[in-house]
Amino acid sequence: MYQLCPSILSADFNRLGEQIKILEKEGIEWLHIDVMDGDFVPSISFGMPVIKSIRKESKMFFDVHLMVTEPERYIRDFVECGADSITVHAEACEDLERTIEQIREAGVKVGISIKPATPVNDISHMLQDVDMVLIMTVQPGFGGQKYMDECTEKIKEVRELIEAENLDVDVQVDGGINDETMETVLTAGANLLVAGSYVFKGNLEKNVKHAKEQMDEIIRKID
Ligand code: DX5
Ligand code: ZN
Repeated sequence: MYQLCPSILSADFNRLGEQIKILEKEGIEWLHIDVMDGDFVPSISFGMPVIKSIRKESKMFFDVHLMVTEPERYIRDFVECGADSITVHAEACEDLERTIEQIREAGVKVGISIKPATPVNDISHMLQDVDMVLIMTVQPGFGGQKYMDECTEKIKEVRELIEAENLDVDVQVDGGINDETMETVLTAGANLLVAGSYVFKGNLEKNVKHAKEQMDEIIRKID
C-alpha cells in the first residue's frame, strides 16, 4: 500500500475546509496532521480543536504526528478528537514502550518516529509493536526544508529490518519530499510519503494530480 499523505501544516488555514475537500476529490486517503508544542520543536502549530473541527467534514485517515514532549499526556485527547493513528517521537517519550501500549489500548494505529540524528538501532527492537515507522528526513519543526540525503540509508535500514522479520509495518518519510526526492525515498523502501509545501504551494489540485502521477510512475518502475 502506497499513499501520498499531504501535511496540512502547509495549508492555507483561511481555506482549510475547502482545501481538504480538494484533497478528497483528488483521491487522497491519508491526511498528515503535524502537532507541535514549542518545546520538543521550536514552533507551535495547532491542536485538538482544529482536528475536531475538520473531523466533522472528512472521512480521510487522520495520521497525527505528535512533535510534542511527553506525548503520553495527550493520547486520549487526540483519539477523542478524531485521530486514526498517532505517531510519537522516540526522543520525546519518558517510556516509549508504555506510550506505544497506551496508543494501542486507545484503539488507533501506532507510529514511532525518529529525528535525523537518531539511529534506527534505537527503535529496532520495537518494530513488531508498531504499525508504522516515520523516518524524519528534515529536522522536525518546519515545512519547506531541504531533504537530508543522509537519511536515505535509514529508510533502507528500517525497510530491511521489517522484511527480515516479515512484519507488516509501513515506512513513512516526512520532510523535503518533491519531484527530486520522491524516487529516492520510494526506491529506499518508503511507502507513505508526507508532502507539505510540494502539494500546498501554488495550485493544490494541480499539484496533487501531478504528485500522484509521479508517484504511480515510480512505483510501476520499482515494483
Ligand atoms: C516537519 C513536519 C512535516 C512538514 C513537511 O516538522 O513534520 O510534516 O509539514 O513539510 P515539507 O513537505 O514542506 O518538507
Ligand atoms: Zn509530520
